Amino acid sequence: MGTQDSPYLVERMQGFGTTIFAEMSSLAVATGSINLGQGFPDEDGPPEVLDAAIAAIRDGHNQYPPGIGIPELRHAVAAHQAKWYSLEYDPDTEVLVTAGATEAIAASLLALCEPGTDVVTFEPYYDEYAAGIALAGARRRVVQLRTPDWSFDADALERAITPATRVLLLNSPHNPTGKVFSVEELELVARLCVEHDLLAITDEVYEHLVFDGRHVPLATMPGMRERTITISSAGKTFSCTGWKIGWICAPPDLLDAVKTVKQFLTYVNGAPFQYAIATGLDLPGSVFRRAAAALEEKRDRLTAGLAEAGLTVFPSDATYFVTADISPLGETDGLGFCRTLPERCGVVAVPSVVFYDDKEAGGPLVRFACCKRLDVIDEAAARLRRLHA
Ligand SMILES: Cc1ncc(COP(=O)(O)O)c(C=O)c1O
Repeated sequence: MGTQDSPYLVERMQGFGTTIFAEMSSLAVATGSINLGQGFPDEDGPPEVLDAAIAAIRDGHNQYPPGIGIPELRHAVAAHQAKWYSLEYDPDTEVLVTAGATEAIAASLLALCEPGTDVVTFEPYYDEYAAGIALAGARRRVVQLRTPDWSFDADALERAITPATRVLLLNSPHNPTGKVFSVEELELVARLCVEHDLLAITDEVYEHLVFDGRHVPLATMPGMRERTITISSAGKTFSCTGWKIGWICAPPDLLDAVKTVKQFLTYVNGAPFQYAIATGLDLPGSVFRRAAAALEEKRDRLTAGLAEAGLTVFPSDATYFVTADISPLGETDGLGFCRTLPERCGVVAVPSVVFYDDKEAGGPLVRFACCKRLDVIDEAAARLRRLHA
């Protein structure tokens, strides 16, 4: 793992998840294993969205779109926030289209942080957070989500905030745990942001893939709309992770700051896909709920399979992922486990340790993706049962 204190960016960024994902994906190919490592679905999303992309290409929407995104998509994003969360954003000054949530997160961190800035986030963390914070020359301070229920200590959160803290980076619904932050937890986060005058960046890419509980954007909490950059993207909601259409909603001053960085990262991206996602966001609520229900069944089958294989499975209320503890198998090294799993039973997963600063806490945990066809999940579950045999 890289050290946060190294003067060299390359060292500060070493060992994050992407390297391990690549290793595990190569292992999956080399061994012909079922890949439950990286989170991408193996089925297409709504046909209306696919058709709209094809139509946009045929209609000639193939050149640079406007820097802030096409008006159709910015209006659709604003309408989506109003319809689902009663959050009002001006599509011309408060919505920015990005190259996936990935660019939105990086551009936001680069816009808001300087060398010496502290960023508070929760661990395990989506690995881009550590990399993005390192790229910005800032320092991460993490608060642990604890097994078995992924709760956190309110005092630990307060202690993590220093005079150098400018940003709190929240991911709900949360990858890798599947936690959906409760209203009480969001109220606490909001209170601390207001008290310490912090800006919030929230990553809500799994907003529509919630099975248990309800997704509540941090921006709806008192005092938060004016200090929050809300990020989401189309990849998970519409099963099109390769399209990389994301967006941010934020007050004009914060949006301008992110836009200034974004224009020199990608400038623009995905013109025809922006039309398709505008169509997707306008689809009726039933389409979104069906996608969540289908994934919920997959989550249930994978959870049952992992439990039958003898692992301790923690609750996942949302997202593409389920986390399990391998300790009941008499093993504690999740990385070693994942490196041998393809050979042992033909399944690939990722070691959660890459999402942790606290290597001991993350050591025995393994993340499995449930966003695969049901027959694939069932076959993976059958193979995993061999671990118990
Ligand atoms: C929590 C989280 N944020 C952001 C992303 C990246 O989203 P996008 O593909 O839109 O860049 C992912 C993708 O896995 C994710 O899990």
